[in-house]
Amino acid sequence: MSEVLKPGHQYQAEPGDAATAYGKVKGEGVDTSHGAILYLEDITVSFDGFRALNKLNLDISVGELRCIIGPNGAGKTTMMDVITGKTRPTSGSAWFGQTIDLTRMTEYDIAHAGIGRKFQRPTVFEQHSVFENLELAMKMNKRVRQTLFSRLSSEQKGKIDEILKLIRLSGQEHRPAGLLSHGQKQWLEIGMLLMQEPQLLLLDEPVAGMSDAETERTAELLNELRGKHSIMVVEHDMAFVTEIAQQGRVTVLHEGSVLAQGTMQQVQSDERVIEVYLGR
Ligand SMILES: Nc1ncnc2c1ncn2[C@@H]1O[C@H](COP(=O)(O)OP(=O)(O)OP(=O)(O)O)[C@@H](O)[C@H]1O
Ligand SMILES: [Mg+2]
Repeated sequence: MSEVLKPGHQYQAEPGDAATAYGKVKGEGVDTSHGAILYLEDITVSFDGFRALNKLNLDISVGELRCIIGPNGAGKTTMMDVITGKTRPTSGSAWFGQTIDLTRMTEYDIAHAGIGRKFQRPTVFEQHSVFENLELAMKMNKRVRQTLFSRLSSEQKGKIDEILKLIRLSGQEHRPAGLLSHGQKQWLEIGMLLMQEPQLLLLDEPVAGMSDAETERTAELLNELRGKHSIMVVEHDMAFVTEIAQQGRVTVLHEGSVLAQGTMQQVQSDERVIEVYLGR
């Protein structure tokens, strides 16, 4: 993975230079000219003196699929809360690309700037069909100017078909979402997030409560998204993490900071990681 440079105001891209062009291709409003989609620096979150995050440093490259592991209470969900504006850091900075300061934005603005988040429990519109759920998600996409009552173009229908296939729900599009299995609802929600074309997708324990077969298919799904989206996945299921991490970076959080980072093989053989997490 390439080295990521520190964001802020010190960098001025010249019009027409390679970095600017790269930023235009990948960015869509987010300046990723230095290769980073997310950059957390020295983030601390204190709850009544207890540090849920403690000078956390972490960056994600454009197109990277990053797995985050670590024991209960390590701060994984709190980190996602900071990225999405749900929790304000006590100190530290959080950048989306080079120029967007997440610590100054509302949850709403962060979502519309292109950070999609999936919570652990599926939240789909149960009364509506699978297709309607995807359609509604598409129409909530700020980048696509569209009213709720306008008809879908063939291009938009094509996009929904593509997502249906990806989330393994082709042929089920007319079923009410409430009748889907737990795993299928999780896939539908991932599909709904993808309809909004996020620049960064955050998934908190996506396979919790899934059957082994569903977990396996979720790993396939994420492997299909690899490189097309920047994704952060928090999981405790190590077989699943091994499947999706492949040769990419895995970050181990412990007591609010990064304990170790490297390939799955590297972190699995790290004595400190075995001690606090994997060995238990
Ligand atoms: N709003 C809050 N007020 C006080 N303490 C909190 C709050 N939110 C989280 N914490 C504490 O911060 C620590 C980190 O919690 P967090 O939920 O981020 O852990 P996690 O790594 O996601 O754990 P898990 O694997 O169990 O989901 C925990 O000790 C938790 O009790
Ligand atoms: Mg959590």
